[in-house]
Amino acid sequence: MRILPSLFFITIIFFFSKFSYGADTITPSVSLSDGSTLISKDETFELGFFNPGNSSNRYVGIWFKNIPVKTVVWVANRDNPIKDNSSTLIINKQGNLVLLNRNQSLLWSTNTTKKSSTPIVQLLNNGNLVIRDEKVSESDEDSFLWQSFDYPSDTLLPEMKIGWEKKSGIHRIFTAWKNWEDPSLGDFTSFMSVSNNPEVVLFKGSSEFFRTGPMTGTTDSGAYGLKANPIFISDVVSSEDEAYFSYTLKDKSVISIVVLNQTLMLLQRLVWIPESRKWSTYMNLPHDTCDGYNVCGAYGNCDINGSPLCQCLDGFKPKSAQQWSTMDWADGCVHTGNWSCGVKGRDGFLKVTGGKLPDTTNTWVNANMTIDDCKIRCLQNCSCTAYSSLGPDDDSGGCCLWFNDLKDLRGSDSQRNFYVRIDASDIGDKHEHTKMIILVVSIVVFAIIVIILALYIYREKMKYKEGNNEGEHDDLDLPFFDLATILEATDYFSNANKLGEGGYGPVYKGKLQDGQDIAVKKLSKRSTQGMKEFKNEVILCSKLQHRNLVKIIGCCVEKDEKMLVYEYMSNTSLDSFIFDPIQSKLLDWPMRFNILYGIARGLLYLHQDSRLRIVHRDLKASNILLDNDMQPKISDFGLAKMCGGDNMEGETSLIVGTYGYMAPEYAIDGLFSVKSDVFSFGVLLLELISGKKNRTLTYNQDDHNLIGHAWKLWKEDNIQSLIDDNLKDTCILYEALRCIQIGLLCLQHHPDNRPNMTSIVVMLNSNNNSLPLPHEPGYLLQNITSEGEPFTERQRPSSINNVTISLLNPR
Ligand SMILES: *[C@@H]1O[C@H](CO)[C@@H](O)[C@H](O)[C@H]1NC(C)=O
Ligand SMILES: *[C@@H]1O[C@H](CO)[C@@H](O)[C@H](O)[C@H]1NC(C)=O
Ligand SMILES: *[C@@H]1O[C@H](CO)[C@@H](O)[C@H](O)[C@H]1NC(C)=O
Ligand SMILES: *[C@@H]1O[C@H](CO)[C@@H](O)[C@H](O)[C@H]1NC(C)=O
Ligand SMILES: *[C@@H]1O[C@H](CO)[C@@H](O)[C@H](O)[C@H]1NC(C)=O
Ligand SMILES: *[C@@H]1O[C@H](CO)[C@@H](O)[C@H](O)[C@H]1NC(C)=O
Ligand SMILES: *[C@@H]1O[C@H](CO)[C@@H](O)[C@H](O)[C@H]1NC(C)=O
Ligand SMILES: *[C@@H]1O[C@H](CO)[C@@H](O)[C@H](O)[C@H]1NC(C)=O
Repeated sequence: MRILPSLFFITIIFFFSKFSYGADTITPSVSLSDGSTLISKDETFELGFFNPGNSSNRYVGIWFKNIPVKTVVWVANRDNPIKDNSSTLIINKQGNLVLLNRNQSLLWSTNTTKKSSTPIVQLLNNGNLVIRDEKVSESDEDSFLWQSFDYPSDTLLPEMKIGWEKKSGIHRIFTAWKNWEDPSLGDFTSFMSVSNNPEVVLFKGSSEFFRTGPMTGTTDSGAYGLKANPIFISDVVSSEDEAYFSYTLKDKSVISIVVLNQTLMLLQRLVWIPESRKWSTYMNLPHDTCDGYNVCGAYGNCDINGSPLCQCLDGFKPKSAQQWSTMDWADGCVHTGNWSCGVKGRDGFLKVTGGKLPDTTNTWVNANMTIDDCKIRCLQNCSCTAYSSLGPDDDSGGCCLWFNDLKDLRGSDSQRNFYVRIDASDIGDKHEHTKMIILVVSIVVFAIIVIILALYIYREKMKYKEGNNEGEHDDLDLPFFDLATILEATDYFSNANKLGEGGYGPVYKGKLQDGQDIAVKKLSKRSTQGMKEFKNEVILCSKLQHRNLVKIIGCCVEKDEKMLVYEYMSNTSLDSFIFDPIQSKLLDWPMRFNILYGIARGLLYLHQDSRLRIVHRDLKASNILLDNDMQPKISDFGLAKMCGGDNMEGETSLIVGTYGYMAPEYAIDGLFSVKSDVFSFGVLLLELISGKKNRTLTYNQDDHNLIGHAWKLWKEDNIQSLIDDNLKDTCILYEALRCIQIGLLCLQHHPDNRPNMTSIVVMLNSNNNSLPLPHEPGYLLQNITSEGEPFTERQRPSSINNVTISLLNPR
């Protein structure tokens, strides 16, 4: 009689184990066998049996259910693989989840000591596998009998903690897989250090590899990528009983994880890109050479832009000058020799800002002290080497004292200060130094103010009509975007967001977190310019603000990638209007004149602005962008220089420009000046009025390019036939003819015969003055006779039409 019920149970077990896919719990009466899976309620995660890579070993693991690339985030039996397909996961009598093989021997088990009469196993929506009492809520984390989040593998999921708890003795250590098809424990680990001021650290074997910097009170720990960012929000808790770091995603529809990778020796934050069906790397730690643990030794500061990389802090000198000079920094630095503990006038502190706080292994903290008490406390103990507050700044309170040599220092953009104990006389020198600097800076600033004032008065005197529109002069700070922000804004430079490809690189549309539309130009890598020069150039250009110039919002410099961020122009560029049979009808004469006038004024600003005097070098219809109100804005100015071109009025080896717009002396001899821009402006003017491209690419003698054609019509006294048919109704004939005449003046062969932008603006603006008569223009390919070499075969742009070219002229 007792056989029947057990037979019944066995049938049930058999039924569930063989045929139930996607069970939602495991109970003492329902087990999970190979082939079935346990699925979270919202179907995000799935637990089951799998073979990693090509391996024949089987493991129990948790992965994303809806991601086509199998991404295992947790593995149960990492060091004890299953060799066949007949193992089962069950809840045993003690309430533990155990993995048994065919002949009931144990492969893996949880080891909870908490008891419950009705335990069930459930996979929660956040990927946490828990054993809980059937009757308690699944949100009551404290009552869980066991949870996989306490025994992590190599992946930190959102809401998962990396850290420790004194009371329960839990220390969550993340360990990389040995390799992509072997989940057994690698020797690359990550955890929260157990110290008074804990930090997340990476270890390779028993040697420290990287640390984030202490996170108590702030996530601005000096580590790359942990500060405010578009993807995730950090959560840091640090007290005597517990310390952890965890994160939640700002946008729940984004899937992002943090993974330790033994092969690459990196802690990576990956973001799933549904369109490309791939994980994309958002952040790597360590991020650069200076991130390596203690690269510069004690009291040595690692500056990634520095040369040499390592420098002793002020008040310190290399322990071994000889080794230091051979770039062997391991021994670090020591006090210059004059520091003496407790001796008045000999004992002081050096303030260090913008660095990662030193290794906190041997520290003491008190959350209730002020920074001044902290300093006194440090002075009282001769082994104290440094102090800092616990919050983002000095006023945020708290005190941390360091007792060991200060290790693993590096420059970073952190705003936190710490104070290093040094000989007071070094600080004295420092102060003198600072005073000198302040004095010099004051003089320079005063001089600059005087100059600006003088220029301002000068400019007032110039007084062109409407001269009051010369841009706003507020000195905005140029933001340097980090790559992550740009990647997110442009959806990882997706092709869908590509706006076009200019001569200096492709342009992408993007949207910043705050909703602002931007255009991102990825500069091609040929530039030889250094980072500092580049940044300076960008800052200078960003200060050029004029309503007819596209505004530079910022830039991004990452490794050898350089990017510029512009405001986004909704009406794209001029060429998409004037050369399009339908769109061109939308541009009536007043609009065209307004555009022309706007370009002239923008160019005038570039040429005459006292600070820079920029030659554009690639002025053309596709570089004229149109905003909502169809106001023209010149783009790509300053790029010639940012990309390593030369200064004003130079002879350059780097020819940048577009055939059809290039002045003869520039195309042939590489000579550029404001007058070569004037030539391009002339071409643009003819194009705008005629609605036709200046085709330079016809070699047929009779078939002139636009310039030649215009000159022919001018000579035949038939110049009005050049005007676009679409303008016939709206055009004010004498205005248009006047414009064409100005255009022809701009196209004169000799630069000296071309007017400058000031005159052009005046000419466009007044209808009374009579204009000079133009001579035969310089229209490329036809009148190249005496001066300059003819085009070489390579330069002859037979197959390129209206593309920007830039070529290195071998001279
Ligand atoms: C794994 O299997 C695939 C497909 O059978 C094969 O192309 C690949 O070379 C294998 N990889 C290894 C490391 O054996
Ligand atoms: C185990 O199952 C997997 C997939 O279900 C299958 O590919 C494999 O051949 C099976 N192995 C054995 C030994 O039955
Ligand atoms: C249990 O199975 C394993 C292989 O799956 C085998 O090596 C072992 O000898 C078996 N043990 C018993 C007691 O049958
Ligand atoms: C439970 O097992 C883990 C390893 O899986 C071990 O680190 C931990 O100390 C064990 N806990 C108890 C209470 O035995
Ligand atoms: C580590 O990264 C490499 C390169 O992206 C990848 O091929 C490999 O699968 C990763 N290893 C693990 C264990 O995920
Ligand atoms: C150390 O003290 C000596 C004597 O007081 C002085 O000559 C020397 O310049 C000091 N060194 C530094 C680096 O201040
Ligand atoms: C800090 O102050 C709080 C409240 O005043 C107190 O509970 C706590 O014990 C103090 N901590 C230390 C380390 O003195
Ligand atoms: C200084 O601090 C160290 C480390 O905390 C401690 O061991 C030592 O007793 C302290 N010395 C004095 C004089 O307080």
